[in-house]
Amino acid sequence: MAVLSQGVDVLVSEVGPRDGLQSVKRAMPTAVKHRWIAALADAGLREIEVGSFVSPKLLPQMADAADVVHEAAQIPGLTVLALAPNFKGAERAFAAGVHKLTMPVSASRLHSMANIRMTPEQAIDEVARVCALRDGIAVERRPGVEVGISTAFGCTMEGPVAEDWVMAMAVMLARAGADSIGLSDTTGYANPVQVRRMFTRLRTEIGDRTGGAHLHNTRGQGLANVVAALDAGVSTFDSSQGGLGGCPYAPGATGNIVTEDLVFLLEAMGLRTGIDLERLIAARRIIHEGLPDEPLYGHVPDAGLPKGFSPASRARDVASAANGDRGGI
Ligand code: COA
Ligand code: ZN
Repeated sequence: MAVLSQGVDVLVSEVGPRDGLQSVKRAMPTAVKHRWIAALADAGLREIEVGSFVSPKLLPQMADAADVVHEAAQIPGLTVLALAPNFKGAERAFAAGVHKLTMPVSASRLHSMANIRMTPEQAIDEVARVCALRDGIAVERRPGVEVGISTAFGCTMEGPVAEDWVMAMAVMLARAGADSIGLSDTTGYANPVQVRRMFTRLRTEIGDRTGGAHLHNTRGQGLANVVAALDAGVSTFDSSQGGLGGCPYAPGATGNIVTEDLVFLLEAMGLRTGIDLERLIAARRIIHEGLPDEPLYGHVPDAGLPKGFSPASRARDVASAANGDRGGI
């Protein structure tokens, strides 16, 4: 189980500035990225994946990643994450001062080759090299390395992906030194039964290195899959504001689960996220400013909060204050 900050039951890790923006052709201006990330942190997001260290020729939207990491790292209490697909990206990310690095390692051979031009085995070796690089950094500044196994639930190019293979990869990645290994439904193929089964199995294979769930809503199964993952003990979820996202190298992969809807689900179920939904919804305005033509999704922002809605974070804060307990957030 991940170590969560005080007063939080579930960690919502915002991936919009990376997974979202990488799939939008137009680049969001760097100054707008800074304001968006600051607004998300102000709404209570504790962890944000702010960009990726990839070849700027391939994804020019991410060319300012070092600048964005540097600025985000000034925000108190925020864990700044970035993605790197290879050793070179990891070097750049560590130099920029990320708190955590996330590396995509695809279970599907075809997706792996299309995405990072490496086989899954080569990608696992790359993770081992990056972990050795991490271990050379002084303990007090040493970033974490997490891996998301992409296409873990199926691939648009290969079809079904064998669960035994996904589990074997997780074990190899743990041996390679990854601090946590999560499962990503890059293509929106997963269903709740599969999610519950695979996360339960992952925990028996790699114990406390079990990472979070990265789910896409391509076929509308995203939030059902969240509930299944919660049942299997998952406590970290990636999501993207406004459902921005996709994978440029997985044809047909569309948006992440929507952060606003995820936070609503969790808070309504009595699980504290530490996030203020009104402030979170207000931050959408900044995306509109930076990318005026980009559609934003989300049932809760469209419909509004139910009358008298009492989010778990606030309800339990009030209860703790009444008890003279300072454990709230
Ligand atoms: N950051 C910056 N530049 C990088 C880089 C990185 N992480 N990795 C490679 N490059 C540069 C190389 O320096 C080289 O530049 P040059 O042409 O000026 O000499 C060029 O990219 C090609 O390098 P090479 O090592 O041959 O890589 P490649 O062509 O096999 O591409 C990846 C490999 C990983 C760089 C590329 O496939 C990639 O960035 N994919 C993006 C994957 C992604 O972000 N997917 C979405 C997230 S899941
Ligand atoms: Zn994704």
